[in-house]
Amino acid sequence: MKLRESGMPQEAYWETLFDVPLILDRLGVDTGLRDVVELGCGFGTFTIPVARRIAGLLTTVDIDATMVERTRQRASAAGIHNVVCTVRDVFADGFGCEEGSQDACLLFNILHGEEPVRLLQEAARAIRFGGAVLVIHWRCDPSTPRGPTMEIRPHPEQIVDWAAQAGLVAGSGKVLDLPPWHYGLRLELLPESPS
Ligand SMILES: C[S@@+](CC[C@H](N)C(=O)[O-])C[C@H]1O[C@@H](n2cnc3c(N)ncnc32)[C@H](O)[C@@H]1O
Repeated sequence: MKLRESGMPQEAYWETLFDVPLILDRLGVDTGLRDVVELGCGFGTFTIPVARRIAGLLTTVDIDATMVERTRQRASAAGIHNVVCTVRDVFADGFGCEEGSQDACLLFNILHGEEPVRLLQEAARAIRFGGAVLVIHWRCDPSTPRGPTMEIRPHPEQIVDWAAQAGLVAGSGKVLDLPPWHYGLRLELLPESPS
């Protein structure tokens, strides 16, 4: 099932809407991360820069074969070999990585879709203890030039609430400002309660 309102505009326009280095800096995406999984590579807007920064393998999936092909082309043209990009429906088949195997899971412009708690549960299952689910989304401001309709666009507080239902907590407790149009959250696994 394709996530609602997850269609994309032209690539060149989409990529004017983000300050990718700033976003990745503020989320702490750097060589301290080994393996990372991304839901929805799209044009590879984040895939390629993330792969360049991390120390391990970036596994990325998209339900749309044209997006996967475009991301593969870009990785190949950039001489990047630490990306595995596959066509996959996460609702039907999950992320395709071992439980607790990833340092981070990227949910970028995704959580306006159906079943956000289920997606966050899948993301929580993929990361190791000490890892993080990294989220960015459009600010809840109708003046943003793109983004899902305001009715389904989640506020950061809504995502923190969904995350709690998936066993995740907002790491620094803060909402990251990712100008010009986004905010971000770093979600970590809740410590196991003593039995
Ligand atoms: C709004 S785009 C965001 C792309 C990328 N994360 C970014 O921020 O540039 C959402 C992407 O999710 C993909 N997608 C939608 N439903 C999906 C599903 N069920 N499984 C995997 N990918 C899906 C879409 O094809 C699209 O490329």
